[in-house]
Amino acid sequence: MKILSIETSCDDTAISIMEVKGGITNASFKVLANNSNSQIQIHIPYGGVYPVLAKREHTKNLPIVLDASLKQAKLKSPQGRTLGIKKGSTFSRFKKNHEIDAIAVTYGPGLEMCLWEGIVFAKNLAKKWQVPLIPVNHMEGHVLSVFGKGRGKFSVKKVKTPVLSLLVSGGHTQLVLTKKWMDHKIIGETLDDAVGEAFDKVARMLYLPYPGGPQISKLAEVKRKREIIFAGTPQADGLRTEQIFQQENRDPEKIDFPFSLPRPMLKSKDFNFSFSGLKTAVLYLIKKLGVLTDEQKAEIALEFENAAIECLVYKTRKAIEKYSVKTLFVAGGVATNQHLRREMRKAVGKKVKLVFPTEGLSGDNSLMIGIAGYLNYIKNKKKVPKPENVKAIGNLKL
Ligand code: KG4
Ligand code: ZN
Repeated sequence: MKILSIETSCDDTAISIMEVKGGITNASFKVLANNSNSQIQIHIPYGGVYPVLAKREHTKNLPIVLDASLKQAKLKSPQGRTLGIKKGSTFSRFKKNHEIDAIAVTYGPGLEMCLWEGIVFAKNLAKKWQVPLIPVNHMEGHVLSVFGKGRGKFSVKKVKTPVLSLLVSGGHTQLVLTKKWMDHKIIGETLDDAVGEAFDKVARMLYLPYPGGPQISKLAEVKRKREIIFAGTPQADGLRTEQIFQQENRDPEKIDFPFSLPRPMLKSKDFNFSFSGLKTAVLYLIKKLGVLTDEQKAEIALEFENAAIECLVYKTRKAIEKYSVKTLFVAGGVATNQHLRREMRKAVGKKVKLVFPTEGLSGDNSLMIGIAGYLNYIKNKKKVPKPENVKAIGNLKL
């Protein structure tokens, strides 16, 4: 069957079409179309997503992205016409018997006014096309994003339970355990800021543009490489601190370098996280340092990234041990972080199959919504709600 999926929970307007088949343990997905409109440029001046603007952009972009996806999938109408882009709205001319068999749409968690845009659009399509509307939990979408597309994609057949998913984005930081396939349970989550949010806030403190995660990560990577090179030189032996101070003309009395930032909740017995204390520690450090040199910025980025990633990796490793996890998924925007990927590979060893989404599917996308929609559809076919009963739930839980 062909499934069309819609994602509008935050600042991406995305619509995909996939040919899907199989059952919940052997489903496969062929991407026919995948289009999205990112709003990052629009939100840069605000240093974060501005909900009213995001909603307005979704309204404007949904019909455009739909047209692009229908054209890309080369869908034929009942009369055999190709449903391509035409000036104005196209979807209003389709009637029953078109080639889409179901529509999946994100109904939470996310910004409610943005979720509603996708939901109302999806309801109209489902009504016109007379097909089921499948509401999808965005976080379940992230868990299943590893089955997306491209070379190196993972297949449902290869899943060995228990599966653990570390979901890391600008809005969430969760450890999700799937003991039985497609039966997910949150076993740990952040008690305050999401890790991506902390990256973004620290970036702002360093005057780096939004979204700050990739910027911090870039600075930290360069600094890390320089430290490795330096560590290999004879002068490195016990002289590192003094050398840096001399190079930078820093006053060791005034500045507490090299510094270390806290690793909040590292030793707590649960699988929860906390990133707001770490962010505040950076704020105090910056206040103490005054105007920052580029070198200081790089040191802060490096130490912040080391601290945040250490917390994620440590708790994930503990959960793997406790639940004898066989497969680990790491997904969400922060899953593109190179340091996280490296450290996670080292930590999990060879016994656990570690899977990241392929290019472009770590962050928000509509393919993951289609995948989750299909797997839920075949799992609960009889329980698909009536379209009029689908509602946005901003704080939806897994
Ligand atoms: O999943 P996503 O695209 O959107 C949601 O928040 O749902 O994640 C975006 C988040 C932002 O906070 C961004 O700064 C962060 O992911 N991010 C990163 C990296 N790339 C994106 N954080 C750390 N390192 C990165 N390389
Ligand atoms: Zn997301």
